[in-house]
Amino acid sequence: VTENKTLVVIFGGSGDLAHRKLYPALFQLYLKGSLNKHFAVIGTARRPWTHEFFREGVIENLSDGTLEQRQAFAEHFYYQSHDVQDSEHYVALKNVIDKLDDKYQIGGNRLFYMAMAPSLFGTIAEHLRSEHLLSHDGYNRLIIEKPFGHDYESALALNNAIVNTFDEDQVFRIDHYLGKEMVQNIPCIRFANPFLNAVWNRDYIDNIQITLAESLGVEERGGYYETSGALRDMVQNHIMQIVAMLAFPRPEKYDDRAINQAKSQVFASLPVYTPEQVQAKFVRGQYGEDASGKQAAYRNEDKIDANSTVETFVAGEIDLDMPQWQGVPFYVRTGKRLPAKKTRIDVVFKADQSELFTEQPASPVLTIEVEPDLGIELTLNGKEIGTSSLIKVDQLQYLLNEDQQKQVPDAYERLLLEAMLGKQGNFAQWEGMTGSWHFVDAIRKAWSQEKDIDFPNYQSGTMGPKAADELLSKTGRHWIYQG
Ligand code: BG6
Repeated sequence: VTENKTLVVIFGGSGDLAHRKLYPALFQLYLKGSLNKHFAVIGTARRPWTHEFFREGVIENLSDGTLEQRQAFAEHFYYQSHDVQDSEHYVALKNVIDKLDDKYQIGGNRLFYMAMAPSLFGTIAEHLRSEHLLSHDGYNRLIIEKPFGHDYESALALNNAIVNTFDEDQVFRIDHYLGKEMVQNIPCIRFANPFLNAVWNRDYIDNIQITLAESLGVEERGGYYETSGALRDMVQNHIMQIVAMLAFPRPEKYDDRAINQAKSQVFASLPVYTPEQVQAKFVRGQYGEDASGKQAAYRNEDKIDANSTVETFVAGEIDLDMPQWQGVPFYVRTGKRLPAKKTRIDVVFKADQSELFTEQPASPVLTIEVEPDLGIELTLNGKEIGTSSLIKVDQLQYLLNEDQQKQVPDAYERLLLEAMLGKQGNFAQWEGMTGSWHFVDAIRKAWSQEKDIDFPNYQSGTMGPKAADELLSKTGRHWIYQG
């Protein structure tokens, strides 16, 4: 393992994301040797913390390793009280950066991580440039988190606010689904198996289904969720990235640039539906209480409007305007308070239509299990054992065992490392976001014109409103994953 020399500045260093995800992810990189001697982390936030207090908080959230390792790791952490609106504070921050760069001989490599409200991204980026916090020797990279805007217009404004300081190839937009093992596995499954690659098109695939089911409700995030809803929270970003991973045309080379270019073709071919099309192709839902009455309805949760029309469930059909995918619906579905946590992809192949067999064979299915199981399943037709020639369905299954699952790095660990290596392949690109925002905006717009929204329309602990099943059954199809 080669050591990465880097100085990480985290805006929002006292926050939840930093403590729960970023510091443990950096620690894993440290344990594996990707970070060793030549690194430092500066956490900034407004409150006046000491380095010691900050370090204790970092250590508290670490598991694995020995106590000594945790302490040695935390020695590289520094706290800087910082008001992002105050120019003078950037001068002070620059001094700390320069000192630490020198102390740890980092060579000018800088990662600026914005783990705070997007409305502040522009101010921070602007000051980083005007107050000369960017180095001239190593790299300067910006990592940002969703939400990247609220709609296309606000996403554009956000992007414009950072492009004066950072070029597109210096911006790393985290979509943590792109850091998941089985999502990163998709190109390999598709292209490293020529027999699959050969049938990965409209001639052999009937439809593709993507399910991101959660059993949890909105929990303590009501304030945020009321401004977002499932469409913005899960579809605009995570689901769209998965669609792109499944649909992009085979690139000439297997490198980040080529993959991103191929993916941008998918984003560019996303439809902009008319209100009539939205009506026919998209379903929204909101959870009510569960059968026992123990789990509250969305409208009765903390920080939720008692008449809220925010959706906690979305199912829909995406028709890509690409020759390879004409006539192949991508069915997507996500929701909170569904029976179980399940992220999976079902690629449904066409069934044999010849009358070769007396009964109709089933549609073969390739399933990619993303979480909580990780693996692949193939559902095929076979013959009943014995003298009969009846057809039965056989299932081949490969799931990672517990040991293998333990080797799977967390999404943030993987993405932080890729940012240090300058690998852009698993980050959201601005071009792609344009397409996905236009797609989502059209749905929102149509929904905002609808009256009489009959919410709640599904019981907690069920697979969502009936209309989500009808979306498929009206064309003779069904969801492969039934919950
Ligand atoms: C986040 C959403 O992006 O993804 C959450 O804001 C959601 O609402 C979460 O719960 C799901 O992520 P994961 O990795 O648990 O599937």
